[in-house]
Amino acid sequence: MNPEPLLHLQGVRFAYPGGPELLQGIDLPLHAGQCQVLLGRSGCGKSSLLKLAAGLVSPSAGEVRWRGQAVRGPGPEVALVFQRPTLLDWLSVLDNVLLPLSLHRRVQAQDRAHALQWLERLGLAGFAQRAPSQLSGGQQSRVAIARAWMQRPALLCMDEPFAALDALTREELQQDLLAVCAEQGTAVLFVTHDLHEAAFLGERVSLLHAGRLAPGVELQEPRPRSARWREAPAFHAACAQLRRALEACT
Ligand SMILES: Nc1ncnc2c1ncn2[C@@H]1O[C@H](COP(=O)(O)OP(=O)(O)OP(=O)(O)O)[C@@H](O)[C@H]1O
Ligand SMILES: [Mg+2]
Repeated sequence: MNPEPLLHLQGVRFAYPGGPELLQGIDLPLHAGQCQVLLGRSGCGKSSLLKLAAGLVSPSAGEVRWRGQAVRGPGPEVALVFQRPTLLDWLSVLDNVLLPLSLHRRVQAQDRAHALQWLERLGLAGFAQRAPSQLSGGQQSRVAIARAWMQRPALLCMDEPFAALDALTREELQQDLLAVCAEQGTAVLFVTHDLHEAAFLGERVSLLHAGRLAPGVELQEPRPRSARWREAPAFHAACAQLRRALEACT
C-alpha cells in the first residue's frame, strides 16, 4: 500500500462561526480504495467532518491533506453525496446526473449514455426525463448517488446516502457500492447510523464522540463482500462490538 494517504485529516479542529468547538483533534488517514465508516450520535459532527474532507469548509486548526497537499477548497477528485439529495428541480433527472460534468466541458452523447447506465444500475431506468420533485425521496437519493458516481471520484464521501431506502434496496445498493468501488479503486468515507450497514461496508468503522474519533473496529473480511458476509459470525460479532462502543459514547 502507498504509505502516503489519499486523504489525511491531521489534528483537525473545527467550529462554525460563533459556535462551540465541534471537532477537537481529528486524525484520520484514508488510503486509496479504502472504505472508512463513521458512526456517531445525531449532532456529533459527522456531516461537518465530511464537509471538511470534501474541502467545503476549512479547519480552524490542523490540516486536511489530499495526496500530501493542503486542501484549500473542493477538488475534482472528491464527490460528496449530501445527507439531503440537493437536486435542481428545473433540470431533468438526467441533467442533474450530468450537472458536475457539464460545469467542466460540453456534454456528449456518450456521457448521456453513461449517465443512463448509472440510472439503470440504480433502478431508475425510465425516470431520466422526470423532474426530481416527481420522484420519491429514496429515488431522489439514488439520483444523487448516480451523480456522484458519474464523476468517477478517487474519494466518495457519502452522508447517510441510503437512509431513505427500504431494507432490500439498501442492501442491494451497499453491495453495488462495494462492486463499483472495487472496479474503480474508489476510496469511501461513509456516514451512517446503521450498525449493520457499517459492518457490511467498512474496513474500519470509527466512532465520533465529543469532538474526537474513538478507537473503532477493523473488519478484515476481504471486499467486495457478498451477502454471505451478513450471515458470518464475525459480522454479528462486529455489530455487537459497534453497539457496545456506541452505547459507551453517552
Ligand atoms: N452551517 C452550520 N452553522 C452552524 N452550526 C451548524 C451548521 N451545520 C451544523 N451545525 C451544528 O453543528 C453540529 C453538528 O452538526 P452535523 O450536521 O455535523 O451533525 P451530524 O453528526 O451529521 O448529525 P446527524 O446525525 O443528525 O446528521 C450540530 O449541533 C449543528 O447544529
Ligand atoms: Mg449529518
